[in-house]
Amino acid sequence: MIDSRDRRIAVVVPAAGRGRRAGGTLAKQYQLLAGRSLLRWTIEALRAHPAIGSIQLVVDGTEIDNAAGLVDGLGITRPVAGGAERQDSVRAGLEALAAGAPPERVLIHDAARPFVSLAMIDRVLAALDRVDGALPAVAVTDTLKRGAGGLVLGTVPRDGLYRAQTPQGFRFPAILEAHRRAAGKALTDDAAIAEAAGLTVALVEGDPDNFKITTPDDLVRAERRLLAGLGDCRVGTGFDVHRLGPGNGVWLGGVLIPHDGALIGHSDADVALHALTDALLGALGAGDIGLHFPPSDATWRGAASDRFLAHAVALVHARGGAVAHLDLTIICERPKVGPHRDLMRQRIAAIAGIDPDRVSVKATTTEGLGFTGRGEGIAAQACATIRLP
Ligand code: CTP
Ligand code: MG
Repeated sequence: MIDSRDRRIAVVVPAAGRGRRAGGTLAKQYQLLAGRSLLRWTIEALRAHPAIGSIQLVVDGTEIDNAAGLVDGLGITRPVAGGAERQDSVRAGLEALAAGAPPERVLIHDAARPFVSLAMIDRVLAALDRVDGALPAVAVTDTLKRGAGGLVLGTVPRDGLYRAQTPQGFRFPAILEAHRRAAGKALTDDAAIAEAAGLTVALVEGDPDNFKITTPDDLVRAERRLLAGLGDCRVGTGFDVHRLGPGNGVWLGGVLIPHDGALIGHSDADVALHALTDALLGALGAGDIGLHFPPSDATWRGAASDRFLAHAVALVHARGGAVAHLDLTIICERPKVGPHRDLMRQRIAAIAGIDPDRVSVKATTTEGLGFTGRGEGIAAQACATIRLP
């Protein structure tokens, strides 16, 4: 058992693909699952292993800054640019490691597999004591058929057939050399590259849960699993009021709505975002907005309130958690919220890094009663549901 962070063990994570089969406007590794990018989930899973010294991420050349931002705080080296095929991307990662302080052993792990377990990493690394390479694999259990044109043509014996997974592990100098020699040949995984170079590759036990996210259905299945891993469900509430004064627009839910007045406050006075921020802080048991952003601090004068909400969301993430749902009620006679509801949902979802269907925006009047009825101010209340590990 390797029990201290070992500079001699590195990981290359190819993440330079287009994710065509998964659909969506963003490539799958950049899509959000339970509030975090797939890329970040995978890097966090690798980072959790105590023996892994460095992680070399490989992304499309245009995504280097974006990817570096997504894995910020995880202490990994700057991503490098990948190539047209997965193999080219892996080679770029290996070359980047070779140019620094080359490791003795390297794991190569797809960004699209966030469910890699510590035990599997142990098994792969342990096999490298004996052989040049190690491949986690799952025995095929379904009966295999050959078919064409919608007809069964025959049954393929499944004895000795395995589904290959990652992380695949190798002795570094051997796989670097094998990849250099295989440049230009089309081989589908790193074990195939090792085999072509005559290296011995051991089979180690894979894990059916360590599936590669490939299709839109896989994304849904993965998010469900990631959320299920966060079993401590918490709810918090928030409430805020700001006074109306002279002006020509109010910030509500991150949207500037034309109005014959403005909300008065130290920041942009967006009561809706303030109530949501307090709801998240409440769910975390982390005090309130005034504690995190004291009105006495000039830094927050006129500040856009999306920063406050983003801060509370970051606190949830720092605890290893995810925001499951945000529910907001805005209380005022005017302006009418209805026409802006969808934009607010989009905006709040974007700040919180969640899907808009996890955000609800409601509005009510107080039937002309009280300070909201008289138009002296606007109130908002919110409820946040979060999940923690
Ligand atoms: N990959 C890469 N460079 C490429 C192609 C793929 O780094 N030129 C990475 C992907 O980002 C992914 C892993 O290799 O993490 C496995 O590839 P795959 O699951 O096929 O991902 P994509 O190629 O992105 O998806 P698709 O084939 O559906 O377009
Ligand atoms: Mg591909």
